[in-house]
Amino acid sequence: MMNIVILYGTETGNAEMLAEDIQSGLQADHQVEILNLSDFAPGDFDRGRLYLIVSSTYGDGELPASAQPFGQAMKAQTPDLTGVVFGLFGLGDSEYDTFNLGSKVVQDLMEEAGATMLGERIVHDASGSDMAEDLALPWAREVVSLAETRIGVAA
Ligand SMILES: Cc1cc2nc3c(=O)[nH]c(=O)nc-3n(C[C@H](O)[C@H](O)[C@H](O)COP(=O)(O)O)c2cc1C
Repeated sequence: MMNIVILYGTETGNAEMLAEDIQSGLQADHQVEILNLSDFAPGDFDRGRLYLIVSSTYGDGELPASAQPFGQAMKAQTPDLTGVVFGLFGLGDSEYDTFNLGSKVVQDLMEEAGATMLGERIVHDASGSDMAEDLALPWAREVVSLAETRIGVAA
């Protein structure tokens, strides 16, 4: 049983819906909380928890509205997130030249702060053939299994 926080950054709700799907899939085995990135500050990260971050891309390859304050706070506060572990699932659309750059912004902010990404950053494509719901749970389970060797597993 792991202590997991799903953080979502969204503009029109897709990332939030996906976060809820992931929570449903994991909550039988883990303690899973969902938070909008708009309600989360860099100082809230806890090394005893796994962060699953789901973020879309908006505008010209930018963070979606609900993730913008978090992005600004990360830049302003330059927190030391060494020892924080996270996985990252990006929502985007390859119709845009700036495909999935919002999730790349999140990855860069986290890694520059010293956090460790587990697994690959998923770059979901709304114009592709895969459903985000089909990719999300296998991704989340993989990240959880990678985290098990790093985070103390509570009984
Ligand atoms: C106005 C607008 C701008 C967008 N800009 C981008 C973009 O630059 N890059 C990208 O990969 N996807 C872009 N998208 C696609 C969204 O990321 C995608 O629709 C996503 O599922 C939205 O998730 P959300 O509802 O959680 O914000 C854009 C969509 C809209 C409507």
